[in-house]
Amino acid sequence: MLNIVILAAGKGSRMHSSLPKVLHELAGEPLLGHVISVAKSLVQKRGGRIRVVTGHGSDQVDPFVLEQGAEIVHQRQQLGTGHALQIAMDGLASEGQTLVLYGDVPLISEEDIDPLIAAGESGLAVLTAVVGDPTGYGRIIRDTTGNVVSIVEHRDASESERAISEINSGIYAAPTSLFQELLPLLTNGNAQNEYYLTDCVQLSVNSGREVYGVEGAVTATMGVNDRLQLAELNQLLQQERRNALMSAGVTLVAPETVYLNGSDIHIQPDTIIEPNVTLNSPVSIGSNVQIGFGSHLTNVVIGDGSVIKPYTVAESASVGANAQVGPFTRLRPGTELSDATHVGNFCETKNAKVGEGSKINHLSYVGDAVIGKRVNVGAGTITCNYDGAYKHQTTLGDDVFVGSNTSLIAPVTLGDGVTTGAGSVITTDVEQQHLALARSKQINIPAYQRPKKPKD
Ligand code: UD1
Ligand code: CA
Repeated sequence: MLNIVILAAGKGSRMHSSLPKVLHELAGEPLLGHVISVAKSLVQKRGGRIRVVTGHGSDQVDPFVLEQGAEIVHQRQQLGTGHALQIAMDGLASEGQTLVLYGDVPLISEEDIDPLIAAGESGLAVLTAVVGDPTGYGRIIRDTTGNVVSIVEHRDASESERAISEINSGIYAAPTSLFQELLPLLTNGNAQNEYYLTDCVQLSVNSGREVYGVEGAVTATMGVNDRLQLAELNQLLQQERRNALMSAGVTLVAPETVYLNGSDIHIQPDTIIEPNVTLNSPVSIGSNVQIGFGSHLTNVVIGDGSVIKPYTVAESASVGANAQVGPFTRLRPGTELSDATHVGNFCETKNAKVGEGSKINHLSYVGDAVIGKRVNVGAGTITCNYDGAYKHQTTLGDDVFVGSNTSLIAPVTLGDGVTTGAGSVITTDVEQQHLALARSKQINIPAYQRPKKPKD
């Protein structure tokens, strides 16, 4: 049984933002979302509950917490980390362990937490890290035998204590009953007049118990206090995701320019991602796919062997196998391209199902449409789907040939094998195998004189 308390009530004033700090996105997900994901996974394995302490911006933070399935505890006044944990523990049964995480320390992983929980079975365990620049962090004070005896906040530290490079991550695990015993003993006689959770270390030592300092990865302890740190952590996480893809057989031509937002991104081996590509979760890409320079893909599925040419923008769309999309194509929500389809330059599709082998190659808008197999949609074809109030559907059978610059005034249905003359405005249904021509007949006037300006 594991209680996980995530502290997230702080203001985050150094972000200079109207958005609460813990809702700022790191690699496509709010900071708090990263921490809750780890917490959920721990609770799944060990049983327990997750409580998030919210305060500043709780009107915005609370709905996110509820959506994630965690409990909320309100801390109306931010009287310190110790106070935050104390109110979060209100009403918790005393068995099991309690783990404290921070909403703004998002790169914490289960590998870092597992040894902490193991150490926290029999006493207070603190996750520490040895860092190059410990400025601002609480310092870990150990005695000559290496036992942790106290944590001193930077503001309260002496010159020699400030020279210590082992810092407090702020992440702790301990038997719930121990926190319940120590928290009421905290006082606020320090530089910030706050109830410091860190003082539990000293209190635990005073009561004759050992405190365990568990050294973890530096990244696990890195907090986000400003936008510079947010960018720094984003780079770390992006690099980790890029490396994982490359290790699994995906080529990233210029890894540092590829952004992988959200954790649900799956790409099969031998796919090549060109520079400056952004993928927003969920994304599923098959093998031997090429994703062209500058493409921006959100919530997409792409089948094996397809080529997405440069500057394609796609959202909530699926592309079958061996298809070709782009360059400069926009696939909007509800686009479903079957195998071996082509959608070319300056084409836009929306809510459109396109059958196997069909081509929309140049300068077209296809919206609210169902298109059969082997259809050729000529250059500049427009489905006129909107009458100003309602959207209407265009249906094309198999083997339709739509002449260039055709306007299809929906609702309209063209049967199998229909041909439309270039420049036609098609307003009524066309039966299969017919040719539909809807344009005025050409008149040629001989020896025509163009108007001329008089010469002076
Ligand atoms: C804290 C630790 C410090 C550690 C550092 C690691 C204390 C006293 N100090 O310092 O030893 O090195 O974290 O990042 O614990 N919060 C609340 N309610 C409050 C106060 C804070 O929910 O009343 C939350 C904040 O939103 C934040 C976290 O607790 O997520 C840490 O608070 P913060 O004020 O940033 O503590 P630090 O000064 O960074
Ligand atoms: Ca902090």
